[in-house]
Amino acid sequence: MPPRTPLPPYRRLPLLITADGDLLDELLRLAAAGGTEVELAADPAAARARWTPAPLVLVGADQAQACLRARLPRRPRTVLVGRSGQLDPGTEVAELIGAEHVATLPAAEPWLVDRFAECAGELPGGGPARVVAVLGGRGGAGASVLAGGLAVTAARARLRTLLVDADPLGGGLDLVLGWEQLEGLRWPGLTGTDGRVDPPSLVRALPSRGDLVVLSWDRGALRHLPAEAMAATVDAARRGRDVVVLDLPRHLDDAAVVALQAADRALIVVPAELRATAAAARVVAVAAPHCADLAVVVRGPAPGRLRASEVARALGLPLAGTLRPEPGLCRGLERGEAPAATGKGPLAVLCQRLLDGMADAPAAGAA
Ligand SMILES: Nc1ncnc2c1ncn2[C@@H]1O[C@H](COP(=O)(O)OP(=O)(O)OP(=O)(O)O)[C@@H](O)[C@H]1O
Ligand SMILES: [Mg+2]
Repeated sequence: MPPRTPLPPYRRLPLLITADGDLLDELLRLAAAGGTEVELAADPAAARARWTPAPLVLVGADQAQACLRARLPRRPRTVLVGRSGQLDPGTEVAELIGAEHVATLPAAEPWLVDRFAECAGELPGGGPARVVAVLGGRGGAGASVLAGGLAVTAARARLRTLLVDADPLGGGLDLVLGWEQLEGLRWPGLTGTDGRVDPPSLVRALPSRGDLVVLSWDRGALRHLPAEAMAATVDAARRGRDVVVLDLPRHLDDAAVVALQAADRALIVVPAELRATAAAARVVAVAAPHCADLAVVVRGPAPGRLRASEVARALGLPLAGTLRPEPGLCRGLERGEAPAATGKGPLAVLCQRLLDGMADAPAAGAA
């Protein structure tokens, strides 16, 4: 696994104070279930600098007396946590260290997962996430592969990523990743609910590997995707993830328009061919009013030697990047290998550059 992209300086993580290995393992498991990382301190001395800024502090029962002696200042969202039997007389100590709650394991596990999940939703970089939409200038342009590549590249950099398949006719984006066997909810299951989507339960319900979570179609009967479901999903993802990648259909339905409007940036993939450019002009005309930052990615080969800059100029859009032909990628896709998974090759390099470019720009939701 490559090193994690440096966290933004404002990213604050929940703080766990314990030297009890078993309790620590338990809490790390719950934090992972809640979708957040944590900071660790074995004792109050190690915790002092992070005590006040942490969005949530869990004091292990083994460190309660030490925290009391350390006279750490009172702060909101402090929890005393331990296994049953460890916490007598927990309430008294809790009061003395200023803890609002006493969490007794295992009974308090679900409650703690929710507290961790709240923190995950509040984390900058997870809220608001960068949202990038990808669409093809013509059929088979390479939009879904670019969307998959962007999501895989972001997750390789250990950014919490959601890849959303917004194309009901696309055949399922899970197939692009080779994930069709992975368990988890797909759109038809999600839209069956009342439309409300909260970030932690969304992330827990979807197929995932490492930092990448995918919301795709299944191979069942074609279903209409309500715009409300898309709006709720993107809203939840913006609060709960670092990066959201939306793979949009060329024929924008209501859900795709909502997704495009939510995107900080949209990329239109156009093969370097005359007719593809003409087709892309039609797509641009429909998409441009819904996204202030629309740019073109030109994919080779260029049988008529059409240059990427000419394609971009013809479309009246900035050129975000180019893709050289990558025959090995097609073979890999057929074998179920995710695009850009090795971090090498033209697609992986472009994806990294596009994500770097987005990291420098302010997210719309940050306004
Ligand atoms: N960067 C690439 N390098 C080589 N081949 C690619 C690349 N991107 C896509 N392809 C090939 O083109 C095919 C179509 O790609 P993809 O499904 O991404 O296009 P699309 O624009 O999403 O199409 P659709 O109109 O179905 O949504 C892929 O199956 C793959 O064979
Ligand atoms: Mg597609």
